[in-house]
Amino acid sequence: MAMLFTPIAAASLLAVVGTQPTGVFAQDAEGWYKAHPGMSRIKDVNQDTHQIVDEFGRTRFFHGTNVVMKEPPWHRPLEWVPGVSSFGEQDVQNLHDLGLNIVRLGHSWAGAEPVRGEYNQTFLDIMKKQTKMAEDHGLYVLVDVHQDCLARQFCGNGVPDWFAKKDWVSSGKMYPFPLKTTPFPVDENGFRSPQSLCGSVDWALSYTSVALGNAFGRLYNNYDGLGDAFAAYWKKLASEYGKTTNVVGYNLLNEPWVGDTWADPTLLVPGVADHKVLEGLWNRAAKQIRTVDNDTLIWFEGATLDVLSGFNNVPLGDGSKSVHSFHYYNPPQLGSISTTLSNRHKDNERLRTAGVLTELTFWMGDEKQMQGLADAMSATDANMVSWIGWAYENLYNGTSGQPYPELAKHYSRSYPAAVAGTPKSFSFADSSATFKLQFTSDPNIQAPTEIILPPSTFPNGYSVQVSPDGSVLQYAVDKRTLAFFTSTSIKNATDITITITRK
Ligand SMILES: *[C@@H]1O[C@H](CO)[C@@H](O)[C@H](O)[C@H]1NC(C)=O
Ligand SMILES: *[C@@H]1O[C@H](CO)[C@@H](O)[C@H](O)[C@H]1NC(C)=O
Ligand SMILES: *[C@@H]1O[C@H](CO)[C@@H](O)[C@H](O)[C@H]1NC(C)=O
Ligand SMILES: *[C@@H]1O[C@H](CO)[C@@H](O)[C@H](O)[C@H]1NC(C)=O
Repeated sequence: MAMLFTPIAAASLLAVVGTQPTGVFAQDAEGWYKAHPGMSRIKDVNQDTHQIVDEFGRTRFFHGTNVVMKEPPWHRPLEWVPGVSSFGEQDVQNLHDLGLNIVRLGHSWAGAEPVRGEYNQTFLDIMKKQTKMAEDHGLYVLVDVHQDCLARQFCGNGVPDWFAKKDWVSSGKMYPFPLKTTPFPVDENGFRSPQSLCGSVDWALSYTSVALGNAFGRLYNNYDGLGDAFAAYWKKLASEYGKTTNVVGYNLLNEPWVGDTWADPTLLVPGVADHKVLEGLWNRAAKQIRTVDNDTLIWFEGATLDVLSGFNNVPLGDGSKSVHSFHYYNPPQLGSISTTLSNRHKDNERLRTAGVLTELTFWMGDEKQMQGLADAMSATDANMVSWIGWAYENLYNGTSGQPYPELAKHYSRSYPAAVAGTPKSFSFADSSATFKLQFTSDPNIQAPTEIILPPSTFPNGYSVQVSPDGSVLQYAVDKRTLAFFTSTSIKNATDITITITRK
């Protein structure tokens, strides 16, 4: 009898063990990381929490900086030279050490399509190489098609030189009319001659010039297929990046102007341009992206003047696959950062999507400006909003090549890069280096909560307090990342608090 039953008993024991391996495995932190090497893919937006979620169901937060090259050759050099803005191995290492996990990396259309219909693969390969370097250092990349004042013809940058034509406005209304009553002299190609004339016009006011508004209008109404050309460039980028693990999204166009306000002054009314002209271009581009890539999140911006978003909907109507990318500068935003964040939250609720602050003032300034930066850091935490500062090169003193400590300390904050559940709040007091996270655990998520603790902020280490006791298992992933695996003894959603203080 015993002989007969033993194999059965062994088999049922195996069966019991067999139903639990994931639970047991989750407590094996090292094993989990071995089984899941590399960065986690960003998956979608949770439309109830309005937060970005990864392939393991974790809520993700991002702190980072902008890297955008606004002139030929349209990409940063790879070599690190103090005083020169580069983006190479040393840079991604620096960003990693600061505790950042995202770069909004400019992918200039002018650099990519110097001749209409002919992409410069050499340029695109350099961008891909820089994106890969970022991945190797744990940094996500937001692929950003950047522009400021659109084209060289308007003393700006963004679209290729072939985009804007000289005869689009009558000669008396050429750039920068009416900012100057007489337009600048131009050469046969329509470029300022000399180019130094650009210095005599305030770039932000340039948007109100007749010629620049007219050119934006032509992009939005697809004059001569220009909207299609923009969308085709996005299809090209999506076909290059669709399978890239660390690409967090496609930022369609930086700070789009509201369009041809001389033909249609209503575009200046906050919110109007969003649905009247931008939505069409975003849908045009998103449609092309989705022919080759259904996975990557599409990040869209509204008019920089808006108070509340004026979009009827997100690109292609799917808020789970898009992110509202917004900026905060004062001006043009008139209210405090907290007011803007609360308005953007209303946008998230109405559009059923997430929002990320993709630019804010991150350079040395007077006392008021530095206080503004400190306030922005508290406000983004309080509202659980990810941020990307403007811009990386401003971090360094060009003479010494050293980072400004006043900026480095704000980059080197603690934050929850990943939360295995629903975050309820987090905060970081930089004077005492005290970080606190409250979240409701999700027993279905095996992947750990990950908190970034930059070594420069915790030079003598840190102490960790967890409540309830024993609810998480702690594991140091690398010099800057502390992981917390939710204990398998926690079967139900449980409120967990993690507090970390500098030693
Ligand atoms: C393509 O990009 C490379 C790298 O920046 C550059 O050297 C080359 O001149 C570009 N080609 C054209 C046609 O612009
Ligand atoms: C994306 O999804 C649409 C609709 O389901 C489908 O028609 C299209 O082929 C998909 N594209 C890719 C690249 O899988
Ligand atoms: C930049 O570095 C140089 C050389 O170390 C120093 O003299 C200068 O004061 C620094 N500038 C600022 C604004 O800190
Ligand atoms: C966990 O959830 C189950 C099902 O909702 C419930 O029956 C059980 O009482 C809960 N256990 C605890 C410890 O809260």
